[in-house]
Amino acid sequence: MKIPKIPSFALFPVLLLGMALPSLRAADVWLSSLDLSGVEQAWGVPRADQSVENHALKIGGKTFERGLGTHAASSVQIILDGQGERFEAQVGVDDEVGIKGAITFQVEGDGKELYHSGTLHGGDNPQPVSVDLTGIKHLALVVDAVGNNNQYGHADWANARLTMKSGQPRIAVLPPETATILTPKPAATPRINGARTFGVRPGAPFLFTVAATGDRPMTFAATGLPTGLQLDTKTGQITGIVTEKGAYPVTLHARNALGESQRSLKIVCGSTIGLTPAMGWNSWNCFASAVTADHVMAAADAMVSSGLIDHGWTYINIDDFWQVNQNSKDPTLQGPHRDAEGRILPNPRFPNMKQLADYVHGKGLKIGLYSSPGPWTCGNCVASWQHEDQDAKQYGAWGFDYLKYDWCTYNDVVHGDHSLPTAKKPYEVMRAALDTVPRDILFSFCQYGMADVWKWGEVVGGNSWRTTDDISDTWKSMSTIGFGQAGEERYAGPGHFNDPDMLVVGKVGWGPQLHPTRLRPSEQYTHISLWCLMASPLLIGCDMTQFDPFTLNLLTNDEVIDVNQDPLGKQAAPVSRAGTLEVWSKVLEDGAHAVGLFNRGLQEAAVTARWSDLGVSGHQTVRDLWRQKEVGSFSDSYEATVPPHGVILVKISPSK
Ligand code: GLA
Repeated sequence: MKIPKIPSFALFPVLLLGMALPSLRAADVWLSSLDLSGVEQAWGVPRADQSVENHALKIGGKTFERGLGTHAASSVQIILDGQGERFEAQVGVDDEVGIKGAITFQVEGDGKELYHSGTLHGGDNPQPVSVDLTGIKHLALVVDAVGNNNQYGHADWANARLTMKSGQPRIAVLPPETATILTPKPAATPRINGARTFGVRPGAPFLFTVAATGDRPMTFAATGLPTGLQLDTKTGQITGIVTEKGAYPVTLHARNALGESQRSLKIVCGSTIGLTPAMGWNSWNCFASAVTADHVMAAADAMVSSGLIDHGWTYINIDDFWQVNQNSKDPTLQGPHRDAEGRILPNPRFPNMKQLADYVHGKGLKIGLYSSPGPWTCGNCVASWQHEDQDAKQYGAWGFDYLKYDWCTYNDVVHGDHSLPTAKKPYEVMRAALDTVPRDILFSFCQYGMADVWKWGEVVGGNSWRTTDDISDTWKSMSTIGFGQAGEERYAGPGHFNDPDMLVVGKVGWGPQLHPTRLRPSEQYTHISLWCLMASPLLIGCDMTQFDPFTLNLLTNDEVIDVNQDPLGKQAAPVSRAGTLEVWSKVLEDGAHAVGLFNRGLQEAAVTARWSDLGVSGHQTVRDLWRQKEVGSFSDSYEATVPPHGVILVKISPSK
């Protein structure tokens, strides 16, 4: 591609002195003249010399002829190979969003911050950026949303240009990658999968479906079940009520014509539920405000027909928009907010919540819903403010098993009080309300990590808490969130997990239009590996009726899922970081280590896991978990070649 240059006058004095150095002659290159296909952004497409919505670039009333129009969160990686001299631009929120939007612009050189704009709002004046590029190999232009709202993050890098000493800058674009299925198909012989420890409160209705792969018909059995529980030998569903507190070691059996499998399950009857991270589906990242009861039933059907249920996937969670909306013109979102006694009413798309819950339970699955402590949810639907007890009771009466509880509009009722007691309060109130319900309802906080929620989420009674803003299906979003979890590992454990948000694999799109995830195949392996290493809740965000073989493979590798569901409930942490190469590790119940060798860079690279970093010594057997294959025995380290943005996930155990 021919890149138009703007002559620079910077070196004219040198030329006048007679030093004709054509290769050193400075030249300006407009950012918008480069191949923009490598620009990542959470919404829309990058535009040359136009705003993201295709208008002339305009910031604070000033119009610019050249520049890049993008949308937060956005990232551009530019390869300079040390030949750059200066980067200059005027940055700000495009006037097309009025005074909305709050974003930051950052410039990073070889991983170091060179410029930070601070928060810029719609209507603010353009901010000048001028950065010295001497010696820099990789330049990154980053835009982030401030808070949890990247809705109006229309970001302009106006008049952005790179002055080069020589050579041409280039926006890094990874070559296309084929989606390769790494995992062999499950065997025809039985294998029991999923959680190996399960919590229940005394007196609460019990439901645990034995997850097993292998040919059908299959029969199930269990020994050591506590009094009050029974197993359906055909479906593998264990139901009933346990009244005696205690830890019950159970052995599960699954048998078919080809053989039998056994697995232990520790049932713990006590005050803690959610002993391993929740595994399920949530409607938001595909259907968002378009969700209906039919979508939810179809999701439950698909969780069974796709075989996901045989790998331990359990929850079918309805996010926002099952309630009536405050001001929608759509009749299917209108209706009375509550009945005469104040009980919450679903919108007409959810004609019968109890029947819906029964339908999902009938398949051996569980069902969840969503609310917010303010008067309205994030999507402006009716929320729980001053109805917490009633709502918790209603969820229990309908038969719900999971509550995702947001923060939206609570700020309005506490008038922006940012104190710690105020941050905790709504979760304490809802916790107390849930405690009166004779049903186990997993409690998931969704306040995006405010007030370091990981430090108090457990004490306030959360089974998980979101640690970040909403994820989107870009490398920038997923990798920033995923690799950004380091440091929070000490707060995770059985019954209380950090939640870096839902999975963005398969067909996603925030409804009603869906698209295949924009994550490359290697990036998807990274996503699932990281979330499993981190003992994060695994909530599938795609339309499960449209699974493709690659996505199904990603979600059904039992050795990878075992890393997530390990009974110790540990969250992995980085044990070494060298530039873009990172090794993350955690110890498993059997004493082995689950280790991710990650390459965040743009080129294939060798990544090494050193025994000294992992805290092990002597001969160790390495098993590749995605390929479910032994790699060999190694004496002090293991090195693997890792694709760009990819991972090799291994289990390292002492050699026999
Ligand atoms: C917030 C949450 C999302 C989703 C929406 C619903 O943005 O972070 O996960 O629940 O609200 O409106």
